[in-house]
Amino acid sequence: MCGIVGFTGTQQAASLLLEGLKKLEYRGYDSAGIAVLGDGGIRVEKISGKVEKLCEKTMDGAAVPGSTGIGHTRWATHGAPTDLNAHPHLSNDGRWAVVHNGIIENYASLREELTARGCAFHSETDTEVIVHLLEYYDAGDVKTTVMKTVARLEGSYALGVLCADKPGTLFAVRESSPLILGVGVGENYFASDVTALVSYTKNAIYLDDGEFAELTPEGITVYDCSGKQIEKPISRITWDVEAAEKGGYAHFMLKEIMEQPAAVRAAIAPRLRDGEVVLEEFDLTPEELREFNKIVITACGSAYYAGCAARYALESLTRIPVEAVLASELRYADPIIDEHTLLIVISQSGETADTIAAMKECRSRGARALAIVNVVGSTIAKTADWTLYTWAGPEIAVATTKGYTTQLAVLFLLAMSMGRKLGRLDDDRYALLLYDLLRLPKLIQNAIDLNHAVPALAKKYHDSPSLFFIGRNTDWAVALEGALKMKEISYIHAESYAAGELKHGTIALIEEGTPVVAVCCNEALEDKTISNIVEVKARGARVLAVAFRGDRKIVSQANDVIFIPKINTLFSPILAVIPMQLLAYYVAKENGCDIDKPKNLAKSVTVE
Ligand code: AGP
Repeated sequence: MCGIVGFTGTQQAASLLLEGLKKLEYRGYDSAGIAVLGDGGIRVEKISGKVEKLCEKTMDGAAVPGSTGIGHTRWATHGAPTDLNAHPHLSNDGRWAVVHNGIIENYASLREELTARGCAFHSETDTEVIVHLLEYYDAGDVKTTVMKTVARLEGSYALGVLCADKPGTLFAVRESSPLILGVGVGENYFASDVTALVSYTKNAIYLDDGEFAELTPEGITVYDCSGKQIEKPISRITWDVEAAEKGGYAHFMLKEIMEQPAAVRAAIAPRLRDGEVVLEEFDLTPEELREFNKIVITACGSAYYAGCAARYALESLTRIPVEAVLASELRYADPIIDEHTLLIVISQSGETADTIAAMKECRSRGARALAIVNVVGSTIAKTADWTLYTWAGPEIAVATTKGYTTQLAVLFLLAMSMGRKLGRLDDDRYALLLYDLLRLPKLIQNAIDLNHAVPALAKKYHDSPSLFFIGRNTDWAVALEGALKMKEISYIHAESYAAGELKHGTIALIEEGTPVVAVCCNEALEDKTISNIVEVKARGARVLAVAFRGDRKIVSQANDVIFIPKINTLFSPILAVIPMQLLAYYVAKENGCDIDKPKNLAKSVTVE
């Protein structure tokens, strides 16, 4: 995700800003920039590409004199990675510069309003509206101007603001995106996380949502959202740089599991307007949607399993036949695909070779492709007919977690939007689904919080020679992802199986002590899955079930139960997968595996 830094003091700011941006590179980004206030006003230097390129362009900052400045590494969300879309953004009068981490959810309406007032825009970003609002509200007093501007913003933002009229002064604003102030001697700093600060100071002030700060070389003043000055404690940073990069978690994978509530919110919130799902990036009319008589989902690995999980929602809500096909199979299958096929291509990286090839093959047969991708400007995103970004932020761990759940979130939005437009999703059912959709970030957090027993459970299973993951319907799709997570980070063989299929052969493998993970979150099929649990237990299996909180039947049948909050069946995979992620993580941790970089695996498989 984006990273911001700020410095004010007596030293030259540019080189310190560049050093701070280098410390934020681990977060993942595609462009970088700095803005410094010098004798000639604010100077902005920004590029698409790496910080090193910015260092070369600015002679390591020497070409940008001044002792007050802001910097940014951008992870593209709105607008591809280009020089113009890079931050900092500058107001048209050149007196305001802004860097931003987060998503301004109401940027479209603000852009319309400002454009109607004659404001010229130069980028595709949501962030640019901020700098033009500052110019518009500029009343002479910088603090008042900042407050008026922030009052118009909806969404998540950590902002750094520089004003040409206030040499030596920076403003930092926090709402739902982390922002930390570094307390120095004769100089002060801000940054998205402590990694960019620890080289200069171990004394930090952690802003809370709604608060903002005024930084000068002499000191830091913090205000609450009403503009009233407040006192904030100065904390001692105890992390080293490596720990700071993981936000204090032992691994990026765990950090990214914990980021899922925020990531899913980022995927959903900008696409809800007055209770309706609005997919501007896939804004087909009902007549255009009716031209599709088949939906084919294609992807690889976990992205494919996300497709398998969302297939049920898509088919149930749109009443269009849906099939999920592995990309490495589809590309060679001589598939029956034509102009009436909607191809949904799912990929976190947007660079997976088999998925790219499958999309090319299907488009050559007339299919039109809707991509669901995390990396903005990636090959799949650029090649597809339409692209819905998941906005999960960079995913560093090879084993995907927030990449997978945000794919599901976008697929649920798509199913609801298409079903609604096709007139196949009635108001009552839509209202129930919308209620669950809005609760997803909170329910995901609950699912995480309910799983405090997983580390202890992992000790029971970490030395198993193999595990079975079983389920039916949506639960089977979760079992597929659960088995993959276990295999790819703990190196324990795991097999996912449709629970109803066990008696057709595989049950021969069940013997005394065989661990079986049974996903039991499909209410209509619960009794069937319980009968499968009874079958395997009769042959000596140890069963760990995943079930809805309050489910009493399962408690009497399984050896152990991990609970998740209740939700409608179609959306249940996005919660049921959480225990799967955590179980795999803690088993792998128990086994001392290299969790973030598992052997033989790459984050993006760009070769066939
Ligand atoms: C998932 O944990 C794996 N890292 C892998 O299966 C991955 O999902 C697959 O390679 C697809 O990658 P993509 O989403 O970037 O296309």
